[in-house]
Amino acid sequence: MRFSNAHLAKKSNHNRNLQRERWSWFGPLLWSFLGMTAIVTFFIFFFITPRNPFLVLGPKLLKEKQRCNLFKGHWVEEARGAGMYTNWSCPTIPESKNCFKQGRKDMDFVNWRWKPDECELPRFDPTAFLHLLRGKKLAFIGDSVSRNHMESLLCILSQVETPQDVYKDSDDRFRRWYFPKTELALIMLWTKFLVAGKERVVNGTGTGVFDLQLDKLDDGWIRHLPDIDYVIISSGHWFFRPLYLHEGTNIVDCVYCNDPNITTHNPDFALKMALRVAFKYINDCKSCGKLVTFVRTFSPAHFEDGIWNTGGYCNRTSPLSAKEIDLESFDWKLRDIQLEEMEKANREGETMIGRRFMAIDVTMAMMMRGDGHPGEFWGNKWMRGYNDCVHWCMPGPIDAWSDLLMAVMRKEAAMDS
Ligand SMILES: *[C@@H]1O[C@H](CO)[C@@H](O)[C@H](O)[C@H]1NC(C)=O
Ligand SMILES: *[C@@H]1O[C@H](CO)[C@@H](O)[C@H](O)[C@H]1NC(C)=O
Ligand SMILES: *[C@@H]1O[C@H](CO)[C@@H](O)[C@H](O)[C@H]1NC(C)=O
Ligand SMILES: *[C@@H]1O[C@H](CO)[C@@H](O)[C@H](O)[C@H]1NC(C)=O
Repeated sequence: MRFSNAHLAKKSNHNRNLQRERWSWFGPLLWSFLGMTAIVTFFIFFFITPRNPFLVLGPKLLKEKQRCNLFKGHWVEEARGAGMYTNWSCPTIPESKNCFKQGRKDMDFVNWRWKPDECELPRFDPTAFLHLLRGKKLAFIGDSVSRNHMESLLCILSQVETPQDVYKDSDDRFRRWYFPKTELALIMLWTKFLVAGKERVVNGTGTGVFDLQLDKLDDGWIRHLPDIDYVIISSGHWFFRPLYLHEGTNIVDCVYCNDPNITTHNPDFALKMALRVAFKYINDCKSCGKLVTFVRTFSPAHFEDGIWNTGGYCNRTSPLSAKEIDLESFDWKLRDIQLEEMEKANREGETMIGRRFMAIDVTMAMMMRGDGHPGEFWGNKWMRGYNDCVHWCMPGPIDAWSDLLMAVMRKEAAMDS
């Protein structure tokens, strides 16, 4: 990529020289005209642009946009090649999500665009995004699906500026990318449960049973918060396991534990408790800055005829329609809980120090996209026969999360002006 950029730059220099010769008589005139335009533009912007650079829409258009529910809609077909990057133009696609490289043959699933029922969702504009987030730190807090979102955003942004790989731990759980020109940092802070959690180990092997501490957050993410401007927080998939929930030294509840002495709950209960503690911490964080929190809602898995270890698969090649999805499902319930807790935290934040929480509600859109997962094409030699119907192919429908992110960020910015 660097080579081709250098080559292009040389070529455009050459062209510019030619142009300059041809138009030399026009130069002084043009410059004075440009100069005047610049001065006028500066004054217009200085006086009528609110202090917030995100606000690029007129007030009327903006109001309409704010009223529109971006998250309720359907997928519409786009022309071929509508994707924002390919596996050639983005060198950082992880092997396990590079579905085409891993042998996926059908390609039409890339060419769909999310269409809110009441308005148009603008496509993500990487140049604008980088400039608007100049100098900021954006952290993704959550599990491997959260990382999947960061990887997708990274590919989209890297089409206009090459990021530096600043930090990577051995498990690829904590990661930091930096865009040197615009000084934007993308940070992955891995956490399974948001709260502190430990797997029960018997004879050196994990049991898949976890102890969660409901009064203690996972230090892996909270210790970074004071340094961060925006977080995209998400959680959910790890709560579908046997969990013992602790407060102090007492076991208070459990999920899927068959213990007659402990109240048993469904995974949504544990998720609700974890979110409540996490959001309260964010609202109470004295050492944090302005810190805006985006809550990305539950990203559904699409195993059919089984689950991951019982032969479940996901080999559809096109999206479902809005009529075909089930809004009574457990996925939707988790999404409702996330939004409820978020709204509660937002109200508390407003009355206290003014921390803001906003939703990136991807659940409905993604419920329709059983065609967007790697399925068998995730390149894992040791787990052949298991399908990945949880993560998302890149490029693919997960790229729309950044369209939504940008729209919500613009709304957030407009609230300050
Ligand atoms: C990109 O995908 C094609 C299949 O569409 C595959 O042959 C190729 O190896 C992939 N390239 C990279 C760099 O991942
Ligand atoms: C743990 O290992 C010991 C010795 O190998 C064995 O006797 C015991 O049954 C094991 N416990 C479990 C729960 O597998
Ligand atoms: C449940 O509590 C009773 C009474 O305290 C105790 O005898 C029993 O061992 C407990 N059962 C389990 C599975 O912990
Ligand atoms: C999807 O996979 C199932 C199970 O392997 C198979 O029966 C079905 O025909 C496949 N469908 C498509 C569209 O390939």
